[in-house]
Amino acid sequence: MNQSRDIPEPDLPAFPPEFLWGTATAAYQIEGAAREDGRGPSIWDTYCRKPGAVLHGDTGDIACDHYHRMEEDLDLLAGLGVGGYRFSIAWPRVIPQGRGAVNQRGLDFYRRLVDGLLARGIAPMVTLYHWDLPQPLQDQGGWQERDCAMWFADYASVVFDALADRVPYWITLNEPIGASFYAYAGSHAPGLRLGGGAIAAAHHLLLGHGETVAALRALGRAAGRIGITLNFGPTSPATQEPGDIAAAARADALATRWFSDAVLDGAYPKLLTDFYEPICDFTFVRDGDMARISTPLDFLGVNYYKSWVARACELPPPGERRATDLGAVTEPPPGAELTGFGWAVCPDGFRDTLLWLREKYPGLPPLYVTENGCCYEDYVDPTGRVRDAERISFLQRYLRAAAAAIEAGVDLRGYFCWSLLDNFEWTAGYSKRFGLVWVDYPTGERLPKDSYHWYRRVIAAQTLRC
Ligand code: NOJ
Repeated sequence: MNQSRDIPEPDLPAFPPEFLWGTATAAYQIEGAAREDGRGPSIWDTYCRKPGAVLHGDTGDIACDHYHRMEEDLDLLAGLGVGGYRFSIAWPRVIPQGRGAVNQRGLDFYRRLVDGLLARGIAPMVTLYHWDLPQPLQDQGGWQERDCAMWFADYASVVFDALADRVPYWITLNEPIGASFYAYAGSHAPGLRLGGGAIAAAHHLLLGHGETVAALRALGRAAGRIGITLNFGPTSPATQEPGDIAAAARADALATRWFSDAVLDGAYPKLLTDFYEPICDFTFVRDGDMARISTPLDFLGVNYYKSWVARACELPPPGERRATDLGAVTEPPPGAELTGFGWAVCPDGFRDTLLWLREKYPGLPPLYVTENGCCYEDYVDPTGRVRDAERISFLQRYLRAAAAAIEAGVDLRGYFCWSLLDNFEWTAGYSKRFGLVWVDYPTGERLPKDSYHWYRRVIAAQTLRC
């Protein structure tokens, strides 16, 4: 393992001894083997084939070939010294048609993965839905249909039957905004451009979340802890013009509160339900739904990447308006340092988000940062090394911000860096590398970057303090 002296020593305050250090991935982004061992097609398999949908026409057909290289990836995790690993299960691998017949070979893959983690002393944190809906369900309307909530809970129950005795952390949904607003009114699969239909899809996802929490709880106390992963992109006005202030308030409500208010407070933000009135009648919200959706959780997963500023822009007429049309354009705060995605580096925004969550939601469960990370223009240098000093600097600053939040009393229990591997970054294809480990896509070879070695030292230093 590379012990290069020119990788900076971590300079961080102490974290609590039981703090869970980890990394995260998602099935479609790393697995590949898209047509193997009985896996059915997902909406991303279909979408990737739509001309112009994904940069360079990239697909997840092979991705990081994790399906075949799982043992090697498990060893990379063990080498890193993580206490936890967050990955997602592909619904189309487990139930190829989305409903009905279970594919044992698909389940066996995840059994091997979970057992491989446990054998290395790594706690599995399993996401049940990271955006890869089985295509046959989309053909029946997907998340626009209320029934999709039960289809999801049924699939989750199959997974619980197989793995609940061995998995300590469950996450129902990853970033439901990406699977609803961006999927049914934006540029994620299935790539529809709906108004109220996208808001209904978001509601049905949350209903599926509530049903799934109930399904796990019905198994009894030994079945592990369960939460949901939401992302937070705080948005402030670009100027003090009233129009920009109002636009930023709407953008902020969608990017930070639509899902957390529903899950933690049992109501959608009124600011936005009022705003959506011309395109959405909310008749899809039935009696009892919000209580189901806000069933108390064991933890909340927080994904944080960036903050924004917003200014007002013109709204399309109601008949042409999508759920993502908020009369706001967002951009990085002026003068912000940017990552390779053009996203602002704002560790203070991260700390403030953690503090804000504690202030805003009195019954807030413990938090885990389930994703945080960055992409840069990484490359393998002539000495065969990826010297990703920018990522190290990014992580150092965000971990300091996490420590500051803990110091201020936030009950933050763990941090999962996105990502273990460079991988398929949705509509950006393979052009954005977020990994601690470089992946050479033509050969599938892995090469730990400098940041991998740095993060290993962080974890080892913190572990020594136990
Ligand atoms: C959040 C998503 O959960 C993940 O799939 C994605 O790769 C990262 N953001 C980076 O964009």
